[in-house]
Amino acid sequence: MRILAIETSCDETGIAILNFQGSLEEGFSFSIEANLLASQIETHRPYGGVVPGLARREHERNLPMLFRELEAKSFKLEPDIVAVTVGPGLSPCLWGGITFAEEIHGKHFSKAKLVGANHLEGHLYSFLLAENADVSVFPAIHLLVSGGHTMLILMRSLVDWDVLGETRDDAVGEAFDKVARLLELPYPGGPEIEKLAGKRMIGIRRKSFEFPAPMLHSGDYNFSYSGLKTAVLYYLRNNPRAKKPAVARAFQEAAFAPLVAKVKRATEEYGAKSIMLSGGVAANRVLQEKLRVLGHPFFVAPLKYNTDNAVIIALAASVNQISGKEYRLEAQPNLSL
Ligand code: KG4
Ligand code: ZN
Repeated sequence: MRILAIETSCDETGIAILNFQGSLEEGFSFSIEANLLASQIETHRPYGGVVPGLARREHERNLPMLFRELEAKSFKLEPDIVAVTVGPGLSPCLWGGITFAEEIHGKHFSKAKLVGANHLEGHLYSFLLAENADVSVFPAIHLLVSGGHTMLILMRSLVDWDVLGETRDDAVGEAFDKVARLLELPYPGGPEIEKLAGKRMIGIRRKSFEFPAPMLHSGDYNFSYSGLKTAVLYYLRNNPRAKKPAVARAFQEAAFAPLVAKVKRATEEYGAKSIMLSGGVAANRVLQEKLRVLGHPFFVAPLKYNTDNAVIIALAASVNQISGKEYRLEAQPNLSL
């Protein structure tokens, strides 16, 4: 089946076409036929974060543009399914995508089935895009880390999972973005902090200071990042001459320590056969390496599929199709896994 998917939950406008064959029982294969993305990073950068109203307007401008690009490139535009992200995300942005999906469905693809998709399932299934992807790796411990979510998930199979823990306040990606602002780095902060933290500094000890790693010994699988952000704020206030690369590195280490420790503990507790990483923060090479060295088969999608895109939405819609799962076609800003 051919799936045309639309993603507009936050600040990336994506349209993708995926060709997907097979079933859950017999196995499946897929190929990406198109993957178009219009980033709004430049629009939101002056504000240091995503402005929802502005984002919807941008989606409404970008969607027809990307769709025309698809037509111009004469991709085979005969989808069996049109899928659109219905949540979680920013309500105006989700509605922008849903309205557009309904429009092109009515105008061009009325024979196709129009379905909703869960953005978090998109991230969850992004591991299928890893070069070494394999579905005989369950139970798996999956760490989903993005700008809106920090979740530790026990996946018993592709369609059966339990959320073991989540953040109590800020998501880890959100903490990267906020700390980046404190360090006067541009939005989005994650890649900027990773770059700065990796800078070699001559004459400064590598571990010149540390921030306390939040929730490291909490005994559960939950996380918390608002205190760490405040710790960085106070440190910078009290040490105006602090070296920014050292602060970035100390923050990154403190942010990742509980993630890695809890993945390790959950892997042992549930006898997991593999570890998976997804969401925008999964693009971070330092985090990838820390999880890779835990010694289990490790799955993470190539860089461009970690942050938001429509290929992962098409994947989620495909798996839902073969497992018989459906989502209502209306914006669900707080949808979970
Ligand atoms: O999944 P995503 O594109 O959007 C959401 O669904 O939230 O994730 C975006 C988040 C942002 O907070 C961004 O700063 C973070 O992912 N991010 C990173 C890196 N690349 C993106 N965080 C740390 N290191 C990175 N290299
Ligand atoms: Zn996302």
